[in-house]
Amino acid sequence: KTLKIGLIPADGIGREVIPAAKAAIEALGSDIPKPEFIDLLAGWETFTKTGNALPHETVDILRDECDCALFGSVSSPSKKVVGYSSPIVALRKELDLYANIRPVLSVAPEVGQKPTIDLVVVRENTECLYIKQEVQTVGENGKEARATRLITERASRRIGQMAFELALARPRKHLTIIHKSNVLSITDGLFRETVRGVPTLPGVNGKYDTVTISEQLVDSAVYRLFREPEVFDVMVAPNLYGDILSDAAAALVGSLGLVPSINAGDDFVMGEPVHGSAPDIAGKGIANPIASIRSAALMLRHLGYTKGADRLDVAVDQVIREGTTLTPDLHGTSSTTEVLNAVLKKL
Ligand code: NAI
Ligand code: MG
Repeated sequence: KTLKIGLIPADGIGREVIPAAKAAIEALGSDIPKPEFIDLLAGWETFTKTGNALPHETVDILRDECDCALFGSVSSPSKKVVGYSSPIVALRKELDLYANIRPVLSVAPEVGQKPTIDLVVVRENTECLYIKQEVQTVGENGKEARATRLITERASRRIGQMAFELALARPRKHLTIIHKSNVLSITDGLFRETVRGVPTLPGVNGKYDTVTISEQLVDSAVYRLFREPEVFDVMVAPNLYGDILSDAAAALVGSLGLVPSINAGDDFVMGEPVHGSAPDIAGKGIANPIASIRSAALMLRHLGYTKGADRLDVAVDQVIREGTTLTPDLHGTSSTTEVLNAVLKKL
């Protein structure tokens, strides 16, 4: 048996960190089925060359041939470019990868010590403002721009179920629902109520009785995240809040270059570092490959290859703990390749 992995480095540092994740997976040997990699195109550069940021072929091959995938990062322009649409947002939709799971974990100085930050942001991945229904018109006040924010019961329920499952599997079994239903009582109200209703759905039969639930308005959640991050275990949020919260949480553990994620659906999983294409450091060979290696680990764990996943995580933790081979985002002086080689040595 082989494990077919689609690789979509896309733009910027994605091209530096995805090859590192590939090398780390290859080093796992018999802990996973023999990996077979398929290189696939997407991103801004693909758009400038072909007029399409997400070629149909990429989606088809992922869907029909791959067991899983790793995505790097795209460079999306901040201004509207006719015909361009972010391929990562489109891919999540096309493959129905409805959950973006983002564990944020600090590495304790000693093995066996409890990390000070150990939380998971579970971000709804298909709707909210990311449906990108925006219009601009001209009215009495000059230009007027509007965006539609979609929250559905179905999407809120399935992300809620995913969040309860994750909470149940963790030692603290605590779930915080993030919303802003004091202001957006209809949209966020629906999200909040639907997630709250998961434990009483037919068929659940008390399964989540041991999960404690709290809720927090998104703004005060950011405040608390910085003041007392240890109160959080699993946080479930609509798309935009989840995006912002996970970048904020990344700052707490030292760098966006450390934080991994998976985009998960019922039949496919795609690993993806939380960071973007980092144009400020792209091409310099100093991007931190750890977020991508950890994303590979998360992807493998999701597929049930626990041993391989654990080995990747342990190797990365050892390199961080030693602190001698780190990229500049962690105040080190090492390159992407040097960090990768340090991880490979531990493996
Ligand atoms: P960014 O995440 O690319 O960078 C933010 C800061 O973190 C920069 O200073 C960068 O150098 C640093 N950083 C990020 N990853 C790093 C790594 N692995 N090692 C060392 N330092 C790292 O966010 P930014 O600058 O706001 O966005 C840049 C581009 O990325 C934009 O075009 C944006 O649209 C895109 N983006 C793409 C995402 C994706 O593909 N999923 C997610 C976020 C942004
Ligand atoms: Mg983000």
